[in-house]
Amino acid sequence: MKKNRALVFILMSFSVSAHGAALPGDAAVGKKLHDANCTACHTDSVYQRKDRQVANLDMLKNQMKACGHAMNITLGKKQMDDLVKYLNDTYYKFK
Ligand code: HEC
Repeated sequence: MKKNRALVFILMSFSVSAHGAALPGDAAVGKKLHDANCTACHTDSVYQRKDRQVANLDMLKNQMKACGHAMNITLGKKQMDDLVKYLNDTYYKFK
């Protein structure tokens, strides 16, 4: 019985977070990380311009790593997830 409950809980939390792509991470935390680390060189207009470079989730992750390197920002996996979730939920909306 206990096991079943855990399973139901897991399934429920999946369907709650299935908004856009079912990505791990917390978009609200991602926004804070973004505003603290990512606006030194560009605003969020680069994610919204017509000729934006990023065309899928992998490119988004790679771009973020490259941007982080340029500024010596070290992002842990959890922070990467939060940032990707924030950027994807807000701007890119990749599935
Ligand atoms: C050292 C400067 C710098 C910092 C800091 C920086 N970026 Fe960037 N970023 C750039 C440059 C330069 C580009 C390319 C802009 C262009 O092509 O006009 C870019 C482009 C991007 C793009 C691609 C936009 C597109 O065209 O789709 C994303 C996504 C992005 N940055 C995310 C981030 C995130 C997230 C952070 C914080 C972790 C960050 N950047 C911090 C310099 C920076």
